[in-house]
Amino acid sequence: MPLVTTTEMFKKAYNGGYAIGAFNVNNMEIVQGITEACAEENAPVILQVSKGARAYANHNYLVKLVEAAILCNPDLPIALHLDHGPDFETCKSCIDGGFTSVMIDASSRPFDENVEITKKVVEYAHAHGVVVEAELGTLAGIEDEVKVAAGDASYTHPEEVEEFVSRTGCDSLAIAIGTSHGAYKFTAAQCTRNEKGILVPPPLRFDVLHECEKRLPGFPIVLHGSSSVPQEYVKMINDHGGKMPDAVGIPEEQLREAARSAVCKINIDSDLRLAMTGTIRSFFDEHPDKFDPREYLKPARANIKELVRHKLVDVLGCAGKA
Ligand code: G3H
Ligand code: 13P
Ligand code: ZN
Repeated sequence: MPLVTTTEMFKKAYNGGYAIGAFNVNNMEIVQGITEACAEENAPVILQVSKGARAYANHNYLVKLVEAAILCNPDLPIALHLDHGPDFETCKSCIDGGFTSVMIDASSRPFDENVEITKKVVEYAHAHGVVVEAELGTLAGIEDEVKVAAGDASYTHPEEVEEFVSRTGCDSLAIAIGTSHGAYKFTAAQCTRNEKGILVPPPLRFDVLHECEKRLPGFPIVLHGSSSVPQEYVKMINDHGGKMPDAVGIPEEQLREAARSAVCKINIDSDLRLAMTGTIRSFFDEHPDKFDPREYLKPARANIKELVRHKLVDVLGCAGKA
């Protein structure tokens, strides 16, 4: 089937109490690992491309890789989404260039400016059959060149969401409830430590989520910064020459709980990066004589696939929903 928008996916996810996985793609192995897992688990998927991914791999290469995934998995519903579109021009370029969904992220602007920019993107996107995700509230962490310190992050104000959605006409809304981008989501000072010495982050603000969902009945909510930062991959990296002390993510039980609510899209990128990096570091430690990229990218792709399978089945609840 051709690329789809997220409209049907979100309708079913909302009513079914599960969320669609939105995974960032930057190269062939990542596209293959994700889509092979989704095809085997019969799970609809959102492949998303950041500004940084377009700068790294080139828009055309990424679109063609996704088209290749469609050819190889003809029954799999795939949406191609711009992640954190910084401005109208980038959104327009992706809308004109074959994407079925774009995010305009003007969440760092004052409310009225955010409304104005988002509305402009929505008008152009809808005229071209493309859906739009917008954002209210600010997540901590790093996205492209924007770095938000933990202290500068701000939860979404639920009293703003109805006005924002009705004034902009956006199709889904990313909210800030305590998730954060990257592999270091919380400072040690924000966490407690469990008996193994692993940092335990503060719980997500489900009160904010539930207030938003109450005010927007039937409307799809999106969570960014939702990697769980699997400790087995952090350990693998650290055991093989890496240095990632105190990398910590969102506990998967909390993401599972969010997926049962109005949250219809959960963004996961850092976990895939950890799986790839850990696998490659460990490969080189064990095989210092090897130099064929296919030999180290193959196990990296296989581990991305298994990680995505786990997310679909155990966290998002979207396996079998295609
Ligand atoms: O939210 C950001 C995503 O993880 C994409 O990261 O900007 O490094 O491609 P990137
Ligand atoms: P993570 O860094 O938690 O994987 O978040 C990814 C994301 O939100 C992409 O937009
Ligand atoms: Zn994000």
